[in-house]
Amino acid sequence: MTPQDRDLLYGVLKEQSGLVLTGDKDYLLESRLMPIARRHGLASVGELVAKMRLPGSTGVKSEVVEAMTTNESFFFRDKLPFLNFTETMMPEILKTRAATKRLRIWCSAASTGQEPYSLAICLKEMSERLAGWKIEILGTDISPEVLEKAKTGLYSQFEVQRGLPINMLVDYFTQVGDMWQIDSAIRAMVNYREFNLLDGFSALGKFDIVFCRNVLIYFDQPTKSQVLDRIAAQMDPQSYLVLGAAETIIGLSDKYKSVSGKRGLYEIASAGPAVGASNIDRPVFAARPAMSGAA
Ligand SMILES: C[S@@+](CC[C@H](N)C(=O)[O-])C[C@H]1O[C@@H](n2cnc3c(N)ncnc32)[C@H](O)[C@@H]1O
Repeated sequence: MTPQDRDLLYGVLKEQSGLVLTGDKDYLLESRLMPIARRHGLASVGELVAKMRLPGSTGVKSEVVEAMTTNESFFFRDKLPFLNFTETMMPEILKTRAATKRLRIWCSAASTGQEPYSLAICLKEMSERLAGWKIEILGTDISPEVLEKAKTGLYSQFEVQRGLPINMLVDYFTQVGDMWQIDSAIRAMVNYREFNLLDGFSALGKFDIVFCRNVLIYFDQPTKSQVLDRIAAQMDPQSYLVLGAAETIIGLSDKYKSVSGKRGLYEIASAGPAVGASNIDRPVFAARPAMSGAA
């Protein structure tokens, strides 16, 4: 791989997904991209990059972006966000949305579905208090491949052993061969949609709770700020943002304030209706080809 090849790969990744690679990541590029090169009958990552330079290479670029994203997820990851969900956010939401009985939750980097399904299980466990409520969980991700897996709700023994309490495995999963499938009632609580966080959010509508966990870490500072501000524009007052354990709003967005004593939990800073409104539909990022376009 030449320095020019590396520059092209870094540029495509940044432009199409926000992923910023720095320093010498050749080992990572080689290990993740060689399988794609082989699939296309090419002998090296250099040849793959040459193909990416050709007109009509949208599909192969999408494959490259998909291969370079980190999709790791597990049920009830870090525990605290889900404790905060049931013990802090939901009691408040039950009060503040009592008149409309509507709740919209967005898992904005849903990966293979463990995060939205963990929330769906939490909601199922409190279903007595949610009678008459209309609740939507939207799980989005840039990668169509992970969303396909999320939709099937099929997980290996290893995946269900990571974070999922045994009683929940018994209550909400069925063994299918050597895999475990989450019950259709839980699957039906989540809608999945391919969506890039660099794209405009306004068509998604407003949300009461946004989980944006373990994705901002891959972006540079300006991209983190823009994504955070644009998420705020999709939230009404008394709505919550949940970030990953290694992520923060500090120094990135003034649209939120920390919820006292609740690490990684934020709410919209101003009670005014115009929070982030000026950002709605702001064309922050240049138009890019759709991720799933064919080559
Ligand atoms: C490490 S996983 C996080 C999954 C889950 N939120 C969690 O914390 O367990 C990061 C996910 O972000 C997705 N992703 C990366 N860049 C993205 C972008 N620009 N738009 C939407 N999703 C993106 C990846 O495809 C991947 O599934």
